[in-house]
Amino acid sequence: MNTLEWSDALVLGFEPMDLVHREFVALLGQAQRATDAQLPSAWSEVIDHTAQRFERENQWMRKTHFTGATDHMLQHRVVLNLLRDGLAMTRRGELSPVREMAQELATWFVKHNQSLDAALAMHLRGQADSPHRRLPV
Ligand SMILES: [Fe+2]
Ligand SMILES: [Fe+2]
Repeated sequence: MNTLEWSDALVLGFEPMDLVHREFVALLGQAQRATDAQLPSAWSEVIDHTAQRFERENQWMRKTHFTGATDHMLQHRVVLNLLRDGLAMTRRGELSPVREMAQELATWFVKHNQSLDAALAMHLRGQADSPHRRLPV
């Protein structure tokens, strides 16, 4: 199994987002390397971080009236619900589907980063440079 690792290819050029993505990659890597005993708490940490990260992006989208917000927020919601299903599985001792989910999450993250998050980062960079900036720092 390939463990997700940070690389320059994941940098989007909007520092607050890159920072949070870097933390996410570290946490997901930890969950991928976790022993069976560690997996439930490692997965729970991934979820807590992901929930905060998604909410932060959602707020940026709302506050700056980002045109792609609806689809992007929907994708966040669907993914978060799946991850929470995974947490319930770990509590029932069903670890192997959660390990698969971790692998799928890594694949999803890279795609999401390169598509929806890249578009959002470009938009937010423009906001940050704008004299009419609405971006909360
Ligand atoms: Fe993101
Ligand atoms: Fe996102």
